[in-house]
Amino acid sequence: MTKGNSTKITDELYQYVLGHNPPLDAVQRGLVATTYAKFPDVAGMQSAEEQGPLLAFLVRLTGARHIVEVGTFTGFSALSMAQALPADGRLIACDVSEEWTAYGREAWERAGVADRIELRIAPALETLRAMPAEPHIDMAYVDADKESQIDYWEELVPRLRPGGLIITDNTLYHGAVLDESATGAAAGVRAYNEHVAADPRMESVLLAISDGLTLSRKR
Ligand SMILES: C[S@@+](CC[C@H](N)C(=O)[O-])C[C@H]1O[C@@H](n2cnc3c(N)ncnc32)[C@H](O)[C@@H]1O
Repeated sequence: MTKGNSTKITDELYQYVLGHNPPLDAVQRGLVATTYAKFPDVAGMQSAEEQGPLLAFLVRLTGARHIVEVGTFTGFSALSMAQALPADGRLIACDVSEEWTAYGREAWERAGVADRIELRIAPALETLRAMPAEPHIDMAYVDADKESQIDYWEELVPRLRPGGLIITDNTLYHGAVLDESATGAAAGVRAYNEHVAADPRMESVLLAISDGLTLSRKR
């Protein structure tokens, strides 16, 4: 058995990583700070800082023009992706919270990308099922309720164009994926990881970035 990742990411090393990635701009930094100030108990839900530049990179790499986000919270990941879209690109952001996403709307306005983002406040499964059935999505970012992830996957994959990308956050779930007796969200992530790895329509890699990030490409 190989030993795998031998580089422990200490706080100092994490700062080094951030220091060698594209820096967040003023709107992104402001949104992160506001989220922690307004919602300290749940701010940890925000996608990790290094994921902003990574998501933007993936938008540019894939040439995505049509993105779907499942789980928007205060809008950091949507902002990061929308900033990398071409001016006529579109991102559909799915969430159930008017309160949290209101902070996103403000930031998207400040960043000049609000016209690229369409926020749909409803259970994400309803929003996905109402989308055209044919392949038209270039990229999707899945970061919402973990128990529903297989259902999101099953709605997204047929709508994804060949070569399109699904990015799923928290696929290590703080290590709880190792717990065979896990329940709730951790069990959802465990089941999702098995489902994704076994899906012949997609090619997937689970990356040990932040809390685990799975990249899945449609064959
Ligand atoms: C981890 S947070 C998303 C973080 C976000 N990607 C960011 O970068 O800030 C999860 C979000 O999923 C939303 N959510 C939970 N259940 C949902 C559902 N059934 N449909 C749509 N959104 C849901 C929550 O309201 C919450 O804002």
